[in-house]
Amino acid sequence: MSNDPYALATEAATALKSATGVDSFDVALVMGSGWVPAADAIGETISEIPVTDLPGFAPPAVAGHAGRVRAVLTGSGKVALIFLGRTHLYEGRGVDPVVHGVRTAIKAGAGTIVLTNAAGGLRPETQEVGEAVLISDHINLTGANPITGATFVDLTDVYTPRLRDLVREIEPSMAEGVYVAFRGPTYETPAEVRMCRILGGDMVGMSTALEAVAAREGGADVLGISLVTNPGAGLVGEPLNHEEVLEVGRATAARMGGLLAEVVGKL
Ligand code: HPA
Repeated sequence: MSNDPYALATEAATALKSATGVDSFDVALVMGSGWVPAADAIGETISEIPVTDLPGFAPPAVAGHAGRVRAVLTGSGKVALIFLGRTHLYEGRGVDPVVHGVRTAIKAGAGTIVLTNAAGGLRPETQEVGEAVLISDHINLTGANPITGATFVDLTDVYTPRLRDLVREIEPSMAEGVYVAFRGPTYETPAEVRMCRILGGDMVGMSTALEAVAAREGGADVLGISLVTNPGAGLVGEPLNHEEVLEVGRATAARMGGLLAEVVGKL
């Protein structure tokens, strides 16, 4: 195995193609906490393997993150790669494993990356638990970046406007918002949540931003969707827990899966 993260992604893409029997993927979707049950609605499974069968993938650390990757044929004839779970920065393995799935998918042909996550809602005045929000932009407070060296990637449109328009053709009422990424694994303090609101954030979570940056560096288009699973800490006085996040995911799986299936169909 190579130490160069880009070479490792090329190795993983080669292994992925031979393990799944698929030569090239049109799109890749990363299913975050609570989104895994939605994957079944996206299309017919061609094959599925544990990600750990591929070079560079670590076993998952979180319940609800299955750590498998599935090749799917959608109703519209597209071939999708679906990561059932992701690696997070808080697992302590560094940044490269966090973005390895995205880099591998791009090397395996995917020109569009769909990133999903569970998030705390920073605007309970207008957001409801169980609502999907389109990510329009992010604020990266993880202190990390997947790119090393003087590669000055433009992030003006990190979440591709054309893809957001396409989702709004399907769901005209879907809200857009700015995703604030923390390293975790703690949930935020109420003071941090208030800070994020002042900074212009609408959702808060522990993923997505680094993967979006890596996808843009790799030349892919990015669509990001947050499932609001709880109001941010301190906004309603209830403590937060991971089980509640997963429960909202289960309750909304059919709706979110249907949405993703339609989106992939229109790509
Ligand atoms: N904060 C961070 N990550 C999350 C949250 C939250 O409130 N809800 C789901 N994932």
